[in-house]
Amino acid sequence: MAPRKIIIDTDPGQDDAVAILLALASPEEIEVLGVTAVAGNVPLSLTQKNARIVCELAGKPDTKVFAGCDAPIARKLVTAEHVHGKTGLDGPQMADPTMPLQEQHAVDFIIETLRAEPAGTVTLCPLGPLTNIAVAFERAPDIVEKVQEIVLMGGAYFEVGNITPAAEFNIYVDPEAAKIVFGSGVPIVVMPLDVTHKALTTRDRVDAFRDMGSDVGTMVAAWTDFFERFDKEKYGSEGAPLHDPCVIAYLIKPELFSGRHINVEIETQSELTLGMTVADWWRVTDRSANALFMGDMDAAGFFELLADRLARL
Ligand code: BDR
Ligand code: CA
Repeated sequence: MAPRKIIIDTDPGQDDAVAILLALASPEEIEVLGVTAVAGNVPLSLTQKNARIVCELAGKPDTKVFAGCDAPIARKLVTAEHVHGKTGLDGPQMADPTMPLQEQHAVDFIIETLRAEPAGTVTLCPLGPLTNIAVAFERAPDIVEKVQEIVLMGGAYFEVGNITPAAEFNIYVDPEAAKIVFGSGVPIVVMPLDVTHKALTTRDRVDAFRDMGSDVGTMVAAWTDFFERFDKEKYGSEGAPLHDPCVIAYLIKPELFSGRHINVEIETQSELTLGMTVADWWRVTDRSANALFMGDMDAAGFFELLADRLARL
């Protein structure tokens, strides 16, 4: 089968970085048409730079990286340096990238690509706030029906929130964008905290990366060591969740995940629960399903896949 064409929309972030590496390490299943950066974990000037650092680390400097929106649609940007560090990729020392940033704006690239490719052949993979995707949909409504699927990391139901008691970071940062995307009618697969909090980096799993003896393995272990400190303290867990790679793992091995087709609405009004993904897990409303909302994953299988693929870089 021909590899699935995707656009990775991202705000690296160490876990975004691992997701990009996993995609670039899997050319048999995935063709990365472009990586579009958005403001999120850190400001756009850093996320676009970090995206290029990661593509170079993967040995794929020809990957097209675009800078997109530098702020949410209707709000001030909220960032997460407390998790990812000042650069967004804190941990090991890293040289500035030498590969270029594309001149085109990320939103224009998304629109142009969806118009140019046959309908139903491009999947969008958002790993950060949904600003770029929502702005593209608003600006070019004709592209919406051309999207094959959106597979995204964001939201939570049973785990509720990580940036506020009620909201997950990616959705909280730009709830208006999330509302547009969840209301678009495009088939959506959601990797919420309910799933990603099971993708925990235990000592053995991090050592497996370190023991690869490659630049990629060493870097992934060092990044993980850095951002683990925050989550271990917060959750009292053995390791930290590798959120964003779940999106790419789903494209390669969907059988690692299970969930329900349900209705998901986004809270944009309440101060207390802003950005909450109101997921009708128990199907107590008659609102129609707009997402496949994941609830469980095979964490051992996920880390096996990750180790196998990262070793190829
Ligand atoms: C999400 O927020 C970011 O900090 C991570 O990169 C991930 O995309 C988890 O809530
Ligand atoms: Ca992210």
